[in-house]
Amino acid sequence: MDWVEYRLPIMRVANQHAIQYPAPRNMNFWYMFGFLATIVLVNQIVTGVWLTMSYTPTAEEAFASVEYIMRDVEYGYILRYMHSTGASAFFIVIYMHMFRGMIYGSYQKPRELLWLFGMFIYLALMAEAFMGYVLPWGQMSYWGAQVIVSLFSAIPVIGPDLVIWIQGDYVISGATLNRFFALHVIALPLVIVILVFLHIVALHEVGSNNPDGTDVKRKKGSLKEDEKTKYKIHEYYTKKYDIIGDVVPFFPHIVLKDLVGFCFFLLAFCYIMFFNPEMGGYFLEHPNFEIANPLKTPTHIFPVWYFTPFYAILKAVPHKLGGVIAMFAAIIMLALLPWIDRGKVKSWRYRCGLHTWNLLTFAAVFIFLGYLGGTPQEAWKITASQIATIMYFGFFVLLFIYSKNERTMPVPARITE
Ligand code: HEM
Repeated sequence: MDWVEYRLPIMRVANQHAIQYPAPRNMNFWYMFGFLATIVLVNQIVTGVWLTMSYTPTAEEAFASVEYIMRDVEYGYILRYMHSTGASAFFIVIYMHMFRGMIYGSYQKPRELLWLFGMFIYLALMAEAFMGYVLPWGQMSYWGAQVIVSLFSAIPVIGPDLVIWIQGDYVISGATLNRFFALHVIALPLVIVILVFLHIVALHEVGSNNPDGTDVKRKKGSLKEDEKTKYKIHEYYTKKYDIIGDVVPFFPHIVLKDLVGFCFFLLAFCYIMFFNPEMGGYFLEHPNFEIANPLKTPTHIFPVWYFTPFYAILKAVPHKLGGVIAMFAAIIMLALLPWIDRGKVKSWRYRCGLHTWNLLTFAAVFIFLGYLGGTPQEAWKITASQIATIMYFGFFVLLFIYSKNERTMPVPARITE
C-alpha cells in the first residue's frame, strides 16, 4: 500500500472524499437519495453492458433480440428488468434528491454550480432515458420518438432540416435506431459519469448543506477568536476552510444511515423487478410489447411517467413552438433557482409559512401535471393543464417576489438536535 500510495494517493483521496469527509450529523431521510442515485447509476451501467452483449440495434432485429434476451439468454429477463426498473427508480430517486435541494435551499450560495451540474445531469438523464426507450423498437418506442423528434420541426427556419439531421433519414428508421443506440450506450453515459464526478467535486469543495441550512464550513479567517473556542475547529483536508460544529466522519456514520435506506430501496426494487416489472404499464408500457409499425398509429401516445409533467406543459399551450418553449422554460426555471430565490435563509424550517406552502403546492402541481400528461386527453384536462402550468411557473414568480424581504426565523448557529 505504501508503495502505491507514494505514487498514487488512493488512500489520501479516499480519506478526504469518503472515509473522513466531514458530514453534518443531522443528515436525515432526504440525504440518502444522492447515495441511491449513485447505486442506480452503477446498476444501469453494469446491466446495460450485459444487455448490449445480446441486443441487436437494427430495425429488423431489435424487437426480436429483446425477446431473445427475455426468453433464451440465461438470466436475461433479470438483466432486462433490472435495467427497466432501474430507469424508473433513477427518476424517483432524482426527483426526491432535487426536492430535498429545494426544501433545504441546497442550491443557494455557495452551491450554485453544484446545482447547475445537477441540472445538466438531469438533462443528460432525460436524453439517455428517451433514447433507451427507443431501443426495444416497440410501438411506443417508435411513436414516442416520432412525437419528440418532430418537436424540433417547430424551430423556425432550421427546424425541418434539423429533424432530418437528427433522424439520419426522412422518417424515424433503422438509421435513427442505430445512432440512438450509440448515444445511449456510450456517449451519454460518459457525459453523465463525468458530470457526476464534477457534481461531487463541487459538493466537497463547499461542503454539504444540512436540514438546518447552517454552514459547517466557513472561509478561513472568517471566524472570530471567541467563536473558534466555542465551535471546536476540525482539522480538514483543505487549508482554505474552517470546519466548525457538528460534523461526523462519513464512514461509518453516514454510510450506515445510507445502508438502512439502501435496504428499504432494495426491498422495493426487488419486489417490482420480480413480481411487478411492468408496474401496471407505468414502467413498461403495454403498446411496447407490439413491434414498431410505421403504418399503425397507437390510439394514445404518452411518454413514460417521468416525462409526463413536461409533456402536459407542452400540450397545455395550443401553439406548437409555444409549447416547446414552455416545456424548456419549465426546466430552465429549475436551473435558475439559485438566482430566483433571493432569500438569505436556506432551510424551509426557518423560512416564512408562505414558502412552505409554495413548495408543497409546487410538488402537488408537478404530480398533477404528471397525471394529466400521462392519461388520455379529455376536454377538462386541457383547461386543467393550462391552470397547472400557470401554477408551475407561479411558484417561481412568487418565490422571486417574497424571498427579497421575507420574514424568517433565526437560524441556529449550530446544528440543532
Ligand atoms: C446521476 C445523478 C446524480 C447523482 C449520482 C448525484 C449524487 C449526489 C451525491 C452522492 C450527493 C451527496 C449526498 C446527498 O447530499 O444526497 C449529492 C448532493 C447534491 N446533489 Fe446530486 N446527484 C445527482 C443528480 C442531481 C440533480 C439532478 C440535482 C439537482 C438539479 C442535484 C443536486 C444536488 C445538490 C444541491 C446536492 C447538495 C445537497 C446538500 O448538501 O444539501 N443532484 N448528489
